Amino acid sequence: MEEFHKVRRLPPYVFEQVNRLKANARAAGADIIDLGMGNPDLPTPQSIVDKLCEVVQDPRTHRYSSSKGIPGLRRAQASYYARRFGVKLNPETEVVATLGSKEGFANMAQAITAPGDVILCPNPTYPIHAFGFLMAGGVIRSMSVEPDDSFFPPLERAVKHSIPKPLALVINYPSNPTAHVATLDFYKEVIAFARKHEIIVLSDLAYSEIYFDDAPPPSVLQVPGAKDVAVEFTSMSKTFSMPGWRIGFAVGNERLISALSRVKSYLDYGAFTPIQVAATQALNGDGSDIEEVRSTYHKRRDVMVESFGKAGWNVTPPAATMFAWAKIPEPFQSLGSLEFSKLLVEKADVAVAPGIGFGEHGDQYVRIALVENEHRIRQAARNLKRFLASSDAVMPDNIVALNAHR
Ligand SMILES: Cc1ncc(COP(=O)(O)O)c(C=O)c1O
Repeated sequence: MEEFHKVRRLPPYVFEQVNRLKANARAAGADIIDLGMGNPDLPTPQSIVDKLCEVVQDPRTHRYSSSKGIPGLRRAQASYYARRFGVKLNPETEVVATLGSKEGFANMAQAITAPGDVILCPNPTYPIHAFGFLMAGGVIRSMSVEPDDSFFPPLERAVKHSIPKPLALVINYPSNPTAHVATLDFYKEVIAFARKHEIIVLSDLAYSEIYFDDAPPPSVLQVPGAKDVAVEFTSMSKTFSMPGWRIGFAVGNERLISALSRVKSYLDYGAFTPIQVAATQALNGDGSDIEEVRSTYHKRRDVMVESFGKAGWNVTPPAATMFAWAKIPEPFQSLGSLEFSKLLVEKADVAVAPGIGFGEHGDQYVRIALVENEHRIRQAARNLKRFLASSDAVMPDNIVALNAHR
């Protein structure tokens, strides 16, 4: 039977193939070090868990909650933007709480897209950026991910040649998977471009607090006039190690926030109230929880870059996010990222995410997630050292032949 139209546009997650191998290897007794999925391993801070437990005792919180988020949570998000970015938001009209930023992004796509609308989307990128719009009937035009001068010529060409004219531009800095960070000057140019051509800007700022340089990543909404065209998505998942709680936000342009709220009002009743209350407390905290999360990833990053380097794999240190975007080591480049990732599971007991899972332009890379502790990262480096030292022996035969002819 023919596959449903929507499902046909959603190829099986590439990451599933590595996950399956990983599960098989574990079932056979292997100790796989999992640096694949971006699933934070740190526990949610105890005070946030305690608040949830306290609030859940009150039966009034067991009823349907509020789809756009309880007022206190929206106010807490507005205060965060004021404190962190100097951006003033009206919690009534410019803030909506979402069931994780992924849900917010996907439903924003549903809310604003007509069939055939053209969306400018980075490649490689976090899959929902493209697939949220594909599910909504949109068409994707891939953009560069480097936040520098090279970003704009393809954008100019896209505006000139796309029919219909692009509806929206997706940006994501700090980027998953590349870890690129944007400057405020870059955002100024993006907003000037978007205002001139009347293009919506959707900024994914899920990694706003996971940074290792002195300069924290800016928000696109810091640019004067950005609210005319832009909305921004943030997440509690990484900032407070709350991935399973499913709380994120969309903020910014009133018309877009209202469109998202309308769609959500038909779909959900909001997150469970005790979760929203605990999230409010987290956002209103003194920042020490965030500092701890950041410093844990910072230390892991340093251990990974140093130990992988010593093992023979030079990885560029990411300035932000919980990921490194690592070029496949030379002898294995012709394998492509999926086969290389499978080989790592099978021969080195290390799982990473193949770059192809983030788009065709990611195939020379793999993404390494800092979701195991320092000890385990060092163990991964030891495994990799052995693996890389025996590259001839572990290389599939067809690739050995291919390399010999190059
Ligand atoms: C760039 C980016 N955006 C959004 C998300 C989803 O986050 P949430 O848990 O808030 O849905 C992730 C999670 O990995 C991400 O990397």
